Amino acid sequence: MNHKFGASPTDELIDDIRRDLDIGLIAPAVFSDPDLYQAELRRVFTRTWVFLGHESEIPNRGDFVQRNIGEDPFIVIRDDKGEIRVLLNACRHRGAHVCRVQAGNARMFVCPYHGWTYANSGKLSGVPVKNLGYAKLKLDEWGLYSAPNVTVYSGLIFANLNKDAISFEEYLGDFAWYLDINLHLSEGGMEVLGEPHRWLVDANWKQGAENFCGDSAHTQMTHRSALEIGVADLSSAGAPKPDAGVHVHDISGHAVSIRRRPGEKPFFSYPPEVKRHFRPGALNEQQFALAEESLLHNGTLFPNFSFLHIGLSEESGKEAAGFLTVRLWMPKGPRQTEIVSWILAPKEASEEYKRRAYRIGMSSFSPSGNFEQDDVSVWPGGARTGGSIFAAMNHMRYNYQMGLGDMSPLPPKEIWDGPGIADSSNAGEGGLRSFHKTWLKWMKGSGRNVADPSN
Ligand code: FES
Ligand SMILES: [Fe+2]
Repeated sequence: MNHKFGASPTDELIDDIRRDLDIGLIAPAVFSDPDLYQAELRRVFTRTWVFLGHESEIPNRGDFVQRNIGEDPFIVIRDDKGEIRVLLNACRHRGAHVCRVQAGNARMFVCPYHGWTYANSGKLSGVPVKNLGYAKLKLDEWGLYSAPNVTVYSGLIFANLNKDAISFEEYLGDFAWYLDINLHLSEGGMEVLGEPHRWLVDANWKQGAENFCGDSAHTQMTHRSALEIGVADLSSAGAPKPDAGVHVHDISGHAVSIRRRPGEKPFFSYPPEVKRHFRPGALNEQQFALAEESLLHNGTLFPNFSFLHIGLSEESGKEAAGFLTVRLWMPKGPRQTEIVSWILAPKEASEEYKRRAYRIGMSSFSPSGNFEQDDVSVWPGGARTGGSIFAAMNHMRYNYQMGLGDMSPLPPKEIWDGPGIADSSNAGEGGLRSFHKTWLKWMKGSGRNVADPSN
């Protein structure tokens, strides 16, 4: 029994989940069980590097946005010295939220309950009637709690609540090879277009996160109507043609799905006016060659950061155009997730192109987008079935066996330029199994360099 976490029924359940996953099965409880959910808030979200937002949201001193790590509310703010801080939105006096709006600019936060005042670095700067009632209070010791580790990677802000955490670079590991392809096609990198969108979906946070690891099988089914009206090139949409679709998984615990046209240069369907800005620059030859032949990449950096780089069109018959969307799956209970999503395009692209990329992103992967609506119509089933009594009576397990072992005649690729295990076709669920393997590692408390969060 794992005394460290003091939750033996959960640990037994986790052991069962481990055994199931070895044969490609997953208990519905993973998507709905309240005890497992509480355990993952403690074991996953307090110890892994969690995505919080994009640097462009807070360009000026005092700019802030509110985001959660697990369910804990944090103020992500650029302080007066220009440093990005991740502050727990909880007054040290009695816990009231000191910040009441989702985004803005503040030099200080005045608690609305009794008026304790904090600088935008989190430091307690003033307490009403201090001389009369709090003469000995040391302001230095009563600042807002802040995440001990914060980093910005190509504009993406990540934090880790564990003071003994491994560095972000080590956590990201070999996944940088793929992430960089999507962030550094041109010298200027990717620029965020407009504000992020936020919406709620009645599904567990892992439902979307695992989907972005390489659920190619759903594209032809869930997104059939979007494909039929011609807003996406069918060859980029989940056709399980060997070599055109490659799932790469177990990449330092993360996974990516790639669709490509070997021998051609679709470059994520960017038009020539944008492609001319692409050059190896920060990428090596192999990375650039993969980018050239790629139609689509989607991936998840465990636990809840995902991206999708794709070419789509805003109306049928119009040529597809590339854009990148990155997103955060914020847990809101075992059966609800808040999605925060950004649309990006290469910095060097024209303003006109950026406006079009934004329109395409909005019409496909936003709360009102056709692809997004398709996904959120099916995702709630996973959590709801997790609560089904009859499903439990039948010992129901979800099937993740696609492409596992002798389910597939094709062994993983022997020759593949990038890191990780590359499956020879996308008729598989190796990326999803890899996601749950990583989840189990953290849930078992055996992630590398893990400190006990109860300390
Ligand atoms: S709770 Fe904030 S000042 Fe009292
Ligand atoms: Fe989808």
